[in-house]
Amino acid sequence: MKFHYPELLHGGDYNPEQWMEQKDTIWKQDMQYAREAGINTLSVGIFSWAYLEPEDGVYDFSWMDEVMDNLAANGIKAVLATPSAARPPWLARKYPSVLRVTPERLTQLYGNRHNACYSSPDYERKVTEINTRLAERYKDHPALLMWHVSNEYNNECHCPRCQDRFREWLRERYGTIENLNRCWWGGFWSHRYASFEEIESPSPIGESCSNGLIQAWKRFSSDNLIRFFKTEIAPLRRLTPDVPVTTNLMYLFSGLDYFRLGRELDIASWDNYPTWKGDERDVETSREVAFNHDIIRGVGGQKPFLLMESSPSSVNWQPINRLRKPGTLMYQSMQAIAHGSDSVQYFQFRAGRGGSEQFHGAVIERTGTTNTRAFREVSEVGAMLKHLKAVAGSETRNRIALVYDIDVRWALDEASLLHKNKQKYVETVRSFHSVLSAMGYGVDIVDETGDLSGYDVLIAPMAYETRDGYGEKVQEFVKNGGVYVTTYVSGYVNEELLTYMDADPCPLNEVTGMHVDECDALDDRTFAHFHWNGKKYRVKEMAELATPTTAVPLAVYADRFYATKPCFTVNEYGKGRCYYIAVRTDADFLRDSLTCILGEAGLQPILPRLPEGVSVTERYQEDGTRFLFVHNATHEKQHVSLPKAMKEAASGKVVYEQLELGELSIAVLTDE
Ligand code: GLA
Ligand code: ZN
Repeated sequence: MKFHYPELLHGGDYNPEQWMEQKDTIWKQDMQYAREAGINTLSVGIFSWAYLEPEDGVYDFSWMDEVMDNLAANGIKAVLATPSAARPPWLARKYPSVLRVTPERLTQLYGNRHNACYSSPDYERKVTEINTRLAERYKDHPALLMWHVSNEYNNECHCPRCQDRFREWLRERYGTIENLNRCWWGGFWSHRYASFEEIESPSPIGESCSNGLIQAWKRFSSDNLIRFFKTEIAPLRRLTPDVPVTTNLMYLFSGLDYFRLGRELDIASWDNYPTWKGDERDVETSREVAFNHDIIRGVGGQKPFLLMESSPSSVNWQPINRLRKPGTLMYQSMQAIAHGSDSVQYFQFRAGRGGSEQFHGAVIERTGTTNTRAFREVSEVGAMLKHLKAVAGSETRNRIALVYDIDVRWALDEASLLHKNKQKYVETVRSFHSVLSAMGYGVDIVDETGDLSGYDVLIAPMAYETRDGYGEKVQEFVKNGGVYVTTYVSGYVNEELLTYMDADPCPLNEVTGMHVDECDALDDRTFAHFHWNGKKYRVKEMAELATPTTAVPLAVYADRFYATKPCFTVNEYGKGRCYYIAVRTDADFLRDSLTCILGEAGLQPILPRLPEGVSVTERYQEDGTRFLFVHNATHEKQHVSLPKAMKEAASGKVVYEQLELGELSIAVLTDE
């Protein structure tokens, strides 16, 4: 199902049960304030279990009826949540199986949230029951827009039930214990299991060295959570087949395979809490956020996604909770839209007077009035989103795909090589993303299982692990004319994390035309160098020594004992070619080499020659209407040349070839 709404959504988490005793005043005021702020959606019920089911089997929907009716009466749509993220105390007391067990095998007490055991039959039953009742009750309610399933799903449980499930999962994957021993290299350290029953999840007080086991456990924990998710949404799918389902994700969270979960969602959504500094460091923050948005768009299959949460002002959980400069909220909000979001939503609508999120930013902050900067800025965003209504539903059409793969990240996190436990996988992928953005290109992010059709260039930094089928897919892609760019520490291991040998080579070797012999780890006082196109570049941290089989060197090392060895090569393969960057460099080389590579591939940037700190993205409607977003992440005015006059999407005002961008701002333009 494809989510489509004719407007951009504006709203956020609305938790009115905090004000149950002030329904006549606060609840009424909430609706009025929401309208004033241009809010058209509110997410309700996220943490409401204790009010919806005050006792086991005793339900009370009367207050939620009122909330939903209030929303409908005020023209506000409900993003209705299932309440599984936070448990009422009775549930933990009556059904202790819901309590999670830590890696140290300690059973947790009641408390906090986001900490259930996803293998607990009681939890599954209680969640199914309450979700069924919610769906039955509100399936025809005029306010219901979509389902917000649970909240920020996370993490793993080590209880005996989860251990049993893990063993079942292993049996299914490996078939026999001999095969598992083979894949986990059980011939060493006497790690030869006689049966699946002998296997325990990794633990600091137990097995913490077997990378095969650790990877399997991460894959299992993710699969177990996705299995739970499917159970959780079963009643929603059955009773409300036309209501889209989402769950709010946490950008770089590593405990869950978001790309896999994404296939179960109708629309992806995420919670964005950047730490803006109000100075030149915001350029870097902006790059990080851009990367995160693009990941989530990838998780949602490059369709529009939702910004489900953000703070209208500061948060309360950073070590330093600084205030933001006026205008930052508009930038943060427009940045989401520019990367493909169809919403700007906040946590939370009205700040509570106490409890764990006291002093967190809100649309209505702690004074309970609208005479605040947060409210004014939120209202400005609301007005802007109304003007930009035509953007809703539009999609990107990028020709470059960048690979960010959670399975590779897990594998590299445990890989004992080079810089122990600090291979910088995420930073490396992000550095490519940042350079491409600065060069004026829009980028899609895929994982190794992703669909490559529609792309001209595929960039896979540090593709350490070749997942089943990936090598062959890349071969096809390049044979058919695609350009593949890859780097050091790629194709080292197969999906079982076993190294490739000459007798059983990585399928990517054919594409790279390279044979990797050795890889050097450089400390922060050691560098190598090379020259390319008349410029000298620095090599830091990782330097691979590889021998071309069919590749042609474009650059060779200038120094150290590996002088004259190639460090940048190209290999013609079928109708396409592969570039191999064997070294970790500074951004200058990435920029220069990618300029050349993309130029040769015939890919022009959306806008060329952007000032430092400026980037561009595009969205297209099906009919070809284009929206161009020009982002200025600096705290200075910037000027950008446009190839022709365009108009501001919100005001219709004509913008001539010279676009002036105010500090920390995004211009949204459309063709005249
Ligand atoms: C997360 C949660 C919210 C809230 C915010 C605070 O994103 O989903 O419930 O706790 O953090 O920033
Ligand atoms: Zn468990």
